[in-house]
Amino acid sequence: MTCCNSHSSGNDNFAADRAAGDAVVAAYPGIAESVRANRAFLARVVRFLAAEAGITQFLDIGTGIPAADNTHEVAQAVTPAARVVYVDYDPVVLQHARVLLTSTAPGTIDYIDADLREPAVILGAAARTLDFTRPVAVMLIAVMHLITDADDPYGIVGQLKAAMAPGSYLALSQVASDIETEQVAEARRRYNSLARETQRHRTQAEVTSFFDGLVLVDPGVVPVQRWRPDSDLTASAKSTMWGGVARR
Ligand SMILES: C[S@@+](CC[C@H](N)C(=O)[O-])C[C@H]1O[C@@H](n2cnc3c(N)ncnc32)[C@H](O)[C@@H]1O
Repeated sequence: MTCCNSHSSGNDNFAADRAAGDAVVAAYPGIAESVRANRAFLARVVRFLAAEAGITQFLDIGTGIPAADNTHEVAQAVTPAARVVYVDYDPVVLQHARVLLTSTAPGTIDYIDADLREPAVILGAAARTLDFTRPVAVMLIAVMHLITDADDPYGIVGQLKAAMAPGSYLALSQVASDIETEQVAEARRRYNSLARETQRHRTQAEVTSFFDGLVLVDPGVVPVQRWRPDSDLTASAKSTMWGGVARR
């Protein structure tokens, strides 16, 4: 496990985050379904990257607390030797990291405690596990809406893209500003007034711009439940997240 930052204590923030979460649910009750649809998107993306695109190296930034179908579980079910590096800056996620690091597969898993706003730090630490001269999948799943314009989100993604060898993939999802517009905007206002992070929701065009310079895989940037759904049930879910995958 690699630790690179001194983010403030998770306990200090826990109550505030929970209050922010409750306020968001009150404004937008559909958020639970949206979160589930995004997790299912994550699993389909990793399965596609491992099984169809032949990717064996994954850099999953904004990991979150372990849930069903974590990246290494899906990737190593296809390719047991897959190498996965998780990155998050939340001390609560760090406390859960041992769950992510326990795998019976022969592949390698690492966890980096670092901030996405410092991509050079992440790339330097990840290079201990991943070979950036070979294709890698960079995953920014449900994290870019937590990067405001002041933090230069396109510059951050640009630095990550520049480190990706030809044949690499970028997978990204984030909260939309142009789906269920009013409810989601109210949820964002409540979140921003209570949580330590500020959310910046983006339009389909703004999310598509993150993939500039890469070739989008079909069907492009779509609501996450419609990205290569594995059943009609999957496709009929509701979400307020745009998601896509593109190849360098
Ligand atoms: C909504 S969760 C998404 C978790 C997971 N990727 C998923 O899709 O289920 C966002 C995660 O990104 C992390 N995060 C937010 N801003 C970050 C930053 N600047 N650097 C690193 N991690 C960050 C949060 O701590 C949180 O764990």
